[in-house]
Amino acid sequence: EKGGYEHFMLKEIFEQPRSIRDCMRGRMYPELGKVQLGGIKEFANKLKNIDRIIIVACGTSWHAGLVGEYLIEDYARIPVEVEYASEFRYRNPIITEKDVVIAISQSGETADTMAAIEMAKDKGATIFGICNVAGASIPRISDAGVYTHAGPEIGVASTKAFTAQVTVLTLIAFYMAQQRGTLGTAELTELLTALDEIPDKVSLALESNELIKYIATEIKDATNCLFLGRGCGFPVALEGALKLKEISYIHAEGYPAAEMKHGPIALIDEQMPVIFIATKNSSYEKVISNIQEVKARKGIVIAIVTKGDRKVKDMVDYVIEIPDANETFLPLLATIPLQLLSYHIAVMRGCNVDQPRNLAKSVTVE
Ligand code: F6R
Repeated sequence: EKGGYEHFMLKEIFEQPRSIRDCMRGRMYPELGKVQLGGIKEFANKLKNIDRIIIVACGTSWHAGLVGEYLIEDYARIPVEVEYASEFRYRNPIITEKDVVIAISQSGETADTMAAIEMAKDKGATIFGICNVAGASIPRISDAGVYTHAGPEIGVASTKAFTAQVTVLTLIAFYMAQQRGTLGTAELTELLTALDEIPDKVSLALESNELIKYIATEIKDATNCLFLGRGCGFPVALEGALKLKEISYIHAEGYPAAEMKHGPIALIDEQMPVIFIATKNSSYEKVISNIQEVKARKGIVIAIVTKGDRKVKDMVDYVIEIPDANETFLPLLATIPLQLLSYHIAVMRGCNVDQPRNLAKSVTVE
C-alpha cells in the first residue's frame, strides 16, 4: 500500500504530479480560456455581486486559504478574509447573506471548521466547501463545493491535500475572475496553459530529493528553524515551518521575510537554519536583502531558488532549485522541497513521520 516507499508521507509527496493533475481534470480548458466548476455552477450569478469572501480553515488548510486570499483578491478583485475556524466561531463576526464562506478541510470532519460553517449558515451566508474526503460532513453541510480529488491521504502531515487545495483555490480565483470579467479569455488562456504545465514542473522539483536529503543531514540537529518568504512565499513559509515542527519536533516558525527585523532577527546566530523562498518573482530583490541580513549574522541559509539562479547561490549555504513558473503558481512548486526537507529531517531524527506524537488525522473535537 506504500507503493515501495518507506512511508506514506513520502509516497504522498511523490504522488503530487498526479494528484494535482487529477484535481484540474475536466475543470479547465486552456485553449478556450475557460474554467468550469460544476460544484459551484449554480452560484455563478451570485458571484458577480458578492462584496466579500471569508475563508475558514485550520492548520495546513488555513495556509492554503492564505494562498487563496492572494489569488482571489489579485484576479477576481473580491476582498477576502482568512480566519482560523476556531477563532471565527467564537468572536461574533459580522456575516450577512451577501457573504460567501469558503471552508477548506482535507478530512471534511474538523470540529472547529464545521462549527464555523454552522454559524455562518445561520446568519445566511452561502457556504462553499473545499474537501478531499468525498461524502464527509463538511461537503454535506455546505451549499456547494469543489472536491480536491487528491486521493486518500494517510500520512498525518498533509502534503498532497495541501497542493490540491491550492490548485482548487487557483481555479476558483480564475472562475470568479471569469464570472466577474476581471480576466479576459486571452489572459485566462495564458494562465491556464501555464497551470497545465505545473504537474510536470512538480515532477522536476521532486528530482532534488537526493540533494535535499543531503541538506537534511546538515541541519537535522538544529533546535530552531526559521522559514521566510514574501507574497505567496509567505504562506509557503508558514506551511514549511508547520511541516517541520509537526513531524521532526524541531521548533520552527514561518514569517513574512520583512517582519524578521521586527523581532525574530534576534534569534539568528551560527546555529540557526533559515529557509528562504527566494525565487525570481516580484519580491526577489527584497528577499535578497533579507538574506543579506541573515548572512551578516552568520545564520545558515537554505534558499529555494528558480532554476539557474546564480545571485542567491553565491550568497547562501545551500540552494534548492525549482522550475521557473508564473508567480501565481509559486506555492505549488516551492512547497515541494519543504515537504521533502521535513520528511528527511524527521526520518533522520528517528521520528514516526506518518504518525507524529499527539496528532490525529482528523480533529473531531475542538
Ligand atoms: C498539518 C495538518 C493539520 C490539518 C488541520 C486541518 O499537516 O494536517 O494542520 O491541516 O488539522 O485538517 P482538515 O484539513 O482535515 O480540516
